[in-house]
Amino acid sequence: VNLKPYNSFGLPAVARTLVRIREAADVRRVVDHPKLGRAPKFVLGGGSNIVLTQDVEAVVLKVEVPGLRLLEEREDAWIVEAGAGVVWHELVAWTIENGYPGLENLALIPGTVGAAPVQNIGAYGIELKDRVEAVEVVDLITGRPALLPASVCKFGYRDSVFKQTGFGGLAGKSVITAVRLRCPKPWQPVLGYLELERKIAESGNQAPSARQIFDWICEIRRAKLPDPAHIGNAGSFFKNPVVTEEQCRDIIGRDPGIVHYPMPDGTIKLAAGWMIDACGWKGKAVGGAAVYEKQALVLVNRGEARGAEVVTLARAIQESVYGRFGIRLEPEPVVV
Ligand code: EPU
Repeated sequence: VNLKPYNSFGLPAVARTLVRIREAADVRRVVDHPKLGRAPKFVLGGGSNIVLTQDVEAVVLKVEVPGLRLLEEREDAWIVEAGAGVVWHELVAWTIENGYPGLENLALIPGTVGAAPVQNIGAYGIELKDRVEAVEVVDLITGRPALLPASVCKFGYRDSVFKQTGFGGLAGKSVITAVRLRCPKPWQPVLGYLELERKIAESGNQAPSARQIFDWICEIRRAKLPDPAHIGNAGSFFKNPVVTEEQCRDIIGRDPGIVHYPMPDGTIKLAAGWMIDACGWKGKAVGGAAVYEKQALVLVNRGEARGAEVVTLARAIQESVYGRFGIRLEPEPVVV
């Protein structure tokens, strides 16, 4: 099976076996299968956070579980359940349409609902962890379903138990089949991001609705992020590095312009996009892989890029940023 249409970077790779998962019971069927049961598995959602550098020998489980419903209305929240195969943005749009606001800042993030908890997607002041009630999974060894409350998901910045390998980690050990989200009542807008504040100032609308914020977020993202339907990419390619105040002072001493955000715990998050830009990478390419002209944090496929070219470009960027700032950038997508 050709995986090119199944990864947002549009990288070429072939899977020997691909099984479509339409419901939790399908995972059980794979686990009980005489041939496939014991083979290594690779879970594929929207393919928007992976870099495929080679063919995939493992059995690919392509998660296509549908469904969107209001599970429960509580005094203090709406609980919404979405199948893992639903496109994330469609879930966000659906909640706005139906009057369960709270996810609007996460509009237009590429990928599926099932992939969202894996890297704890986040944008404009909200992370998925702020809205997850529970995650429905199926164990890849036993085929048994389980409901994991948010508290056991070990959410961190672009991280979760589903991404972690080794002891206690669930990477490769379970499949997410649905996610339950909690949209708090009464709704309160999450503002404060410079670009959002600018929209408020321009419009003169001091009390925007969830629908208005949803529309603004879509405009902001469309203006600076490439649409994977037209230009292959995996969103931000690097995480924003977190440093101590001391390290940050050091860097500011040398580069006063560096964009940085103080975190509640006293550490400081540096803007990786700014550092990459400062090293002159915008528009630079290795083969078909290039740094997006409008946003240096995003690597794009100009057409015929291969995974190896993306990796080579990423390494060169890491070296140059390390050389100038002494900071090691960590890739955000999973390199396969
Ligand atoms: N900047 C530059 N040049 C560039 C890119 C950025 O100077 O080429 C500067 C910007 O002017 C800005 C700062 O660097 O002052 C930060 O840039 P930006 O706001 O574009 O990106 P970010 O805040 O680092 C993060 C998330 C995004 C999320 C936005 C909004 C990460 C790795 N990325 O980007 O998430 O949409 O905040 O909240 O945390 C993603 O994860 O795929 C993603 C797009």
